[in-house]
Amino acid sequence: MINILDPGARVIDLGCGSGDFLIRAHSKIESGFGVDGSKQLIKYAQNRTKDLNITNLTFEHRMIDQDFKPKAHFTHATACLLFHVLPQELAVQILKFSTTYCARLIICAFAPPENKKQQLLMWLDQRFTSHYRHYREYCQNGYMEGLIKKCQLHIDDIADTFDPTLKIYTLSH
Ligand SMILES: C[S@@+](CC[C@H](N)C(=O)[O-])C[C@H]1O[C@@H](n2cnc3c(N)ncnc32)[C@H](O)[C@@H]1O
Repeated sequence: MINILDPGARVIDLGCGSGDFLIRAHSKIESGFGVDGSKQLIKYAQNRTKDLNITNLTFEHRMIDQDFKPKAHFTHATACLLFHVLPQELAVQILKFSTTYCARLIICAFAPPENKKQQLLMWLDQRFTSHYRHYREYCQNGYMEGLIKKCQLHIDDIADTFDPTLKIYTLSH
């Protein structure tokens, strides 16, 4: 995902977790803003940024809901492993609405398994999570491509990752 970002990008990372992506990307981008619903993870990201003397990143503890609207505009919105966690109606709203505050989206998400082994490994990974119901809905609705289609976004590229069940989608509107 870092390789796909344009140098000088202004990035919002949705569901940023511990901030790992923005922290790794910070020297390539102009600024980064991470939002996550976990207070603990945001605190961790803020402490790490401070310890590493990184000055171009900010993190905010906030639940992203259908009314979520950041104060600034961004060149890119990124999201890694977020959309299968959310109720799918909310996932559609967040994805659609992100086009009002950023030009491009880079999303790392589960793709349809290519064989029974991948299917089983994905199921084992997700079955005992609290969001399993949302994950099932995500699969039934056609995975990330199903969401993208619903939002009428344009897929510029789909890149493979080290994990065959995870793909990186570059989108525009
Ligand atoms: C599977 S984790 C991925 C975290 C991070 N992007 C990564 O790749 O390591 C999903 C993250 O989404 C966050 N999350 C889930 N629903 C959210 C919501 N409605 N608003 C903000 N964050 C949310 C969770 O707190 C969690 O940190």
